[in-house]
Amino acid sequence: MPIIDTHAHIYLKQFKEDVDKVIQRAKAEGVESIFLPNIDLDSIEGMLSLSEQYPNYCYALLGLHPCSVKENFEAILEQMKPMFQQHTFYGVGETGLDYHWDVTYKDQQKEALKIQVEWANELKLPIILHTRKSFEDTYDIIAKHKSAELTGIFHCFGGNADDAQKVIDIGFYVGIGGVVTYKNSNLDETLKHVPLNKILIETDSPYLSPVPKRGKRNEPAFTKWVVEKIATIKNISIEEVETITTQSAKKLYQIQ
Ligand code: NI
Repeated sequence: MPIIDTHAHIYLKQFKEDVDKVIQRAKAEGVESIFLPNIDLDSIEGMLSLSEQYPNYCYALLGLHPCSVKENFEAILEQMKPMFQQHTFYGVGETGLDYHWDVTYKDQQKEALKIQVEWANELKLPIILHTRKSFEDTYDIIAKHKSAELTGIFHCFGGNADDAQKVIDIGFYVGIGGVVTYKNSNLDETLKHVPLNKILIETDSPYLSPVPKRGKRNEPAFTKWVVEKIATIKNISIEEVETITTQSAKKLYQIQ
């Protein structure tokens, strides 16, 4: 049965030596496609070349990560925007807000997020959201600025059942990765209240490896442990988790 990794940064330098083997292992574990969210201007070239090397397997997204937002974010976004006409991108992201590492550019992060929501509205693409210690602010901006049709992912979702319900209520999905396998993540309890068809599988490679690979470099093949854990939490089969989450990912990213 297929799995889709809806969020992996396998174009980064951590994969420079062995990305082909990483993709072979992903295929061997049933990963049917991998979506590549962008981080900044520098990461675009490597991401595009990987998606060109693996057509219909690696799909590129375009956006500015909140941790990459500095004083000059407007100039960077102005450089990025025309690229949507030059290449095929399957979503806007990753964007969002990060109050964990640095809040120096909090206002700029919010402004950059608003601009990218407008892109997603206009381009009719899903938006991929990073929300580290920033769920409320991110949610408020999305709820206020989204078009009626806009959908997307609250990636690496770590909220409670009420937060999950808010995500579902505006037609978005929760992205679940390795954190679900960590003790004390509390995601077990949350996910019991989230319908399977609102959950998407992701890795966030090279970060946040699931148990039993915790602490190691993450890669798309490791989605299997995330799928297993979700099946256990919801007391359903692995096949059901794979089938439903894959259907949702295809619908969201508009691929066949
Ligand atoms: Ni990411």
